Amino acid sequence: MQTKNKAVTVAAAPLLVAAAMLVAGSTSAVADCGFSDGDAAKGDKVYHTTCVACHRENGRGAVPGAPDFTKKGGVLSEPHSALTMHIKNGFHSPGKPLAMPPKGGNPNLTDQDIKDVHAYLHHRFGCG
Ligand code: HEC
Repeated sequence: MQTKNKAVTVAAAPLLVAAAMLVAGSTSAVADCGFSDGDAAKGDKVYHTTCVACHRENGRGAVPGAPDFTKKGGVLSEPHSALTMHIKNGFHSPGKPLAMPPKGGNPNLTDQDIKDVHAYLHHRFGCG
């Protein structure tokens, strides 16, 4: 009896793993990269008013030192908390010619605007 139960459990395990992978796969297909605090459609407007001058329409950067958002393993692969913080407070990595200004230089951006534009970055350029 004991042995039979064990066999059933072992046989079911791969199915569970496969099911979990399907769920994970469908989540990344909508490209929110697990960040659901923002509205990408609203973030689209923020990006095109405040960020596009330095980060360019295609996300690859228009000014020296601006990162390429489309790069695999690039800045968009950082933890969500770090990205939100860098957009809000600004960011300057050692040796870069230019810094990212707090709120992209637009003091009128609200915390929600920042989450929305964060969501837009993932929606448009992926998860890094
Ligand atoms: C004045 C130019 C400028 C504007 C405007 C600007 N950025 Fe940046 N941004 C930069 C530069 C330069 C860097 C690279 C800074 C570094 O690595 O030291 C950067 C870096 C970043 C990073 C990567 C941070 C990290 O963790 O490496 C993100 C994300 C980002 N910007 C998002 C935004 C968003 C969103 C906006 C609009 C709200 C915006 N930026 C507006 C110049 C700008």
